Amino acid sequence: MAPLHHFLALFSVFGAVCVNGISEVQGSKRDPCAVIGGKKWVAPKDVRACFSSFKVDPAIKRNILDVVSKTLAFHTSVNYQIRAPEPFSKDVHEDLFKDFARISKTNYASDYDLHIDMSRTLKRLNDGHCVWINACYALFFNFLPIPLVLLTEKDGSQNVHIAPEAFEVASVEFADEISVWQDALPGPLKGKLETLSGAKVLSINGKRPFESVNANALITGSFQAFGTRQNLFFSSYARSTSKFVYSMGNFAQQSLPLSDSVNLVIQRVNHTTLDRITLPYRSRINPATVPFNNSTTYRANNCVAVDGTNGVDINTEALVSSAAGRFQQTPPVPVTKKQRLNVIMDAAPLSDVDLPPVLQPTAPVLNGSFGSGAFFMQKDGKTGVLALGSFSGADFLVMQSGLLQGLMTLKQMGATQLIVDVTNNGGGFICMAHWLHRIIVGPKSTSVPQAGLDTKARDGPLARQIVQQIIDKNLDPQQNLLYNPLNWNDANGVQFAAADNWLLPPVNVHINGHADAFSQRLGQECQPFSATPPETALFDSSKVVIVSNGRCASSCSLFSITMDKEEGVRTVVVGGKADIKQQYCGIVGGQSTDFSTIDTEIKTAQLKNSSLAPPDMLVNGVQGITWRLGFGIDDTAEPEEWQDHPATLNLPLTPDLVNNPVAIWDAVTARLLS
Ligand SMILES: *[C@@H]1O[C@H](CO)[C@@H](O)[C@H](O)[C@H]1NC(C)=O
Ligand SMILES: *[C@@H]1O[C@H](CO)[C@@H](O)[C@H](O)[C@H]1NC(C)=O
Ligand SMILES: *[C@@H]1O[C@H](CO)[C@@H](O)[C@H](O)[C@H]1NC(C)=O
Ligand SMILES: *[C@@H]1O[C@H](CO)[C@@H](O)[C@H](O)[C@H]1NC(C)=O
Ligand SMILES: *[C@@H]1O[C@H](CO)[C@@H](O)[C@H](O)[C@H]1NC(C)=O
Repeated sequence: MAPLHHFLALFSVFGAVCVNGISEVQGSKRDPCAVIGGKKWVAPKDVRACFSSFKVDPAIKRNILDVVSKTLAFHTSVNYQIRAPEPFSKDVHEDLFKDFARISKTNYASDYDLHIDMSRTLKRLNDGHCVWINACYALFFNFLPIPLVLLTEKDGSQNVHIAPEAFEVASVEFADEISVWQDALPGPLKGKLETLSGAKVLSINGKRPFESVNANALITGSFQAFGTRQNLFFSSYARSTSKFVYSMGNFAQQSLPLSDSVNLVIQRVNHTTLDRITLPYRSRINPATVPFNNSTTYRANNCVAVDGTNGVDINTEALVSSAAGRFQQTPPVPVTKKQRLNVIMDAAPLSDVDLPPVLQPTAPVLNGSFGSGAFFMQKDGKTGVLALGSFSGADFLVMQSGLLQGLMTLKQMGATQLIVDVTNNGGGFICMAHWLHRIIVGPKSTSVPQAGLDTKARDGPLARQIVQQIIDKNLDPQQNLLYNPLNWNDANGVQFAAADNWLLPPVNVHINGHADAFSQRLGQECQPFSATPPETALFDSSKVVIVSNGRCASSCSLFSITMDKEEGVRTVVVGGKADIKQQYCGIVGGQSTDFSTIDTEIKTAQLKNSSLAPPDMLVNGVQGITWRLGFGIDDTAEPEEWQDHPATLNLPLTPDLVNNPVAIWDAVTARLLS
C-alpha cells in the first residue's frame, strides 16, 4: 500500500485536473458526491473526491477530540499503551494525548484527512477494543478479485500466492463487477482471470510482497502481535451463522478508498514465464450506507449523530442500543445486563462472503449446533470438532445449552479428542467463554468458581462520582448500569453491597511514569451458571487442541488463554511467516464497551454537566474502549493483555490446506492428536 502522502499528493493533482476539466464543459463544479450517489460500484478515486471535498469544521474537530479524550478516562489501558512490556514493547507504544495535541494543532486539507489521522492514531494502539470509527467514511469498501495467501512450499520456503480459490470466491461474490476486472487484464490474459488463481506473486507495486504485508501491518491495528497483523493481509475463513464465510484480507479488501490499482508480477500455476498485470480496485457500497444523491444528503444521512450515538438518562428516556453494535465483530444479538460482552470492533462488518462449496465441510452438523457454533465428527470417528466463530453467535441460553449438547453428542458418537476451531472469533459473551472452559475441563480449582480472569476497572474521579450518585440517589433500581455496585463481586467472589462504592479506595499505581488508578480486584461474575454444568470433564485437556489463525480476540482470548495456561491445552496457529512468532490470540481485555454506553452511565447518574464528562458526539462516530482489564495467569499482578501467548504449533499452509477447514483439522489431528 502506498504511503498516505503519496496518494493524497497524486490525488490532489488529479482531482484539480478533473474538476477543471468538467467545469470547462459544464461551467460549474460537479458535486463530487453526486458522482457516487445511488451507485453500487464506483472508482475509489471518486469516493476520495467526495470524502475530500469537505473542509474541517473546527467545532466538529474540537467535539471529536473532546469526546474521545474524555472517554479515554474510562479505558483501562491508556498508560500501559504508552509502552507495553515485553514481548510487545516494539508493537505497542502510542501516547494518545501527545498525538491529540498534535492533531489539535494540525491543519488538514479536508475532514477526510483528519479522519485518517485520528483513526490511525487509535489504530497504533494495536488494540481492537479501543478504536475510532466514523460511519461517514465507511460508505464504500475497496475490493480486488484476487485475495492473497501465504503458502509454504515443499522445501520450506514461503511465498505469497493468489489464493487457489480466488476466482471461485470472486466470480460469485462479485458477479456483477467481474467483467471490469476481466477486461482490465492485459493482452492474452484478458477474460482469463480464472487462470490467475494460485499464481505465485513475485512483486506488488514493484516491491517484494512482504514490503506490502509489513506496511499494512503498521496501519491495520486490531492486534498487538506483528505476526497477527501480517496475517490480516491474507484471506481466511470463519464460521458464521449457518455457514462458513470467507474473509478477503486487507490486500483484497480495504475499509477506506486507499488504492486505485495494484501492479503485480506473477507466475501462474504450471507456467514458467512471468506475467505483469495491473488490476483496479473497485469500491462497493457498504450495505449499511444510507442512500444519498449529493453532498448534502451524503452528510445528512451518514455523517451526523444517530440514535444510539450518544447515551440517554434511562430514568427519563427509553434505552436505545448503542450505535457501536454495528461495528462489533459478532453477529447482532440482544444483550441483557447479565450478558456482558468482550468483543473486537472494526469499520468493516463481519464478512458474509461465502467460502466456496468445495471448501465447506460436508459432514452433517451435529445436534447442539447453533448460529456460529457448529459440531462435526471427523472421518476417524474419534476427533470431534467445534467450529466456533463467535462467543455471542446466538441467544445466550441457546448457545449455553447448544455447547453442552454438542459436546455430549460428540462423546456419545465416540469422540475422545476435540478440536476447537476459533479462527476469526472476535469474542462475545464473557460468561460463554467461562462456560465452555468449565464444561470441557469439569469442576476444579481453575474452573470453579472462576473459569476466566479476575479484572479491574479504571478508577477516575468521574467514575467514582457515578458510583456515588447511583448509591446516594438510588438511580438504578433495575441494575442496568455498569457502575452499580450490585453488579460486581470482590476478589473473593462476594457481591458488593448496594451502598458500597466499589471504586473506593482506588489502587494508585504508576505506569510508564504516569500516575494512574484502578478499582480493587474484581472476582468472578458468571457462576453459578444459569444451566447446570456436568459433574466431570467432557474431554481430557491433553486431548483438546485450539486452532486459529491468531485472530482470536476478547472473549475468545479469555477462553484460549485459560485453557492453555491453566489446563495445558495445546494451541495451533495456521499460516504466518515462519520466522515470526505466532501468538494464538490477541487483545484480551476483560470487558469492552463504548462511548455511548459510558454516556448513558453519566447521564443517568446526572453528571453530564461535570467538566470531566464528554459532550454529546455530533458526528456518526463510535469509540470503543476496554472497560475492565483481566489480570494475568503467569504474572498475576499484571494484565494478561501484554503477556506472551505463543502457539504450540505453527502449521504451515500448503495449497491443499489453505482455507480448507476439514483439511486443516485433519492435519492438526495428524500432528497433535494421533
Ligand atoms: C498443473 O499441472 C498439473 C500436472 O500436470 C495438473 O494436475 C494441474 O491440474 C495443473 N494445474 C493448472 C491450474 O493448470
Ligand atoms: C435522491 O435519493 C432519494 C433516496 O434517498 C430518492 O428518493 C430521490 O429520488 C433522489 N433524487 C434525485 C434527484 O435523484
Ligand atoms: C440534494 O438532494 C436532495 C434530495 O434529492 C435535494 O432535495 C437537494 O436539493 C439536493 N441538493 C443539492 C445541493 O443538489
Ligand atoms: C439428534 O437429535 C435428534 C432429535 O432430537 C435425534 O433423533 C438424533 O438421534 C440425535 N442425534 C445424535 C447423534 O445424537
Ligand atoms: C449539575 O447539575 C446538578 C442538577 O442536575 C446540580 O445540582 C449541580 O450543581 C451541577 N453541577 C455542576 C458542576 O454544574
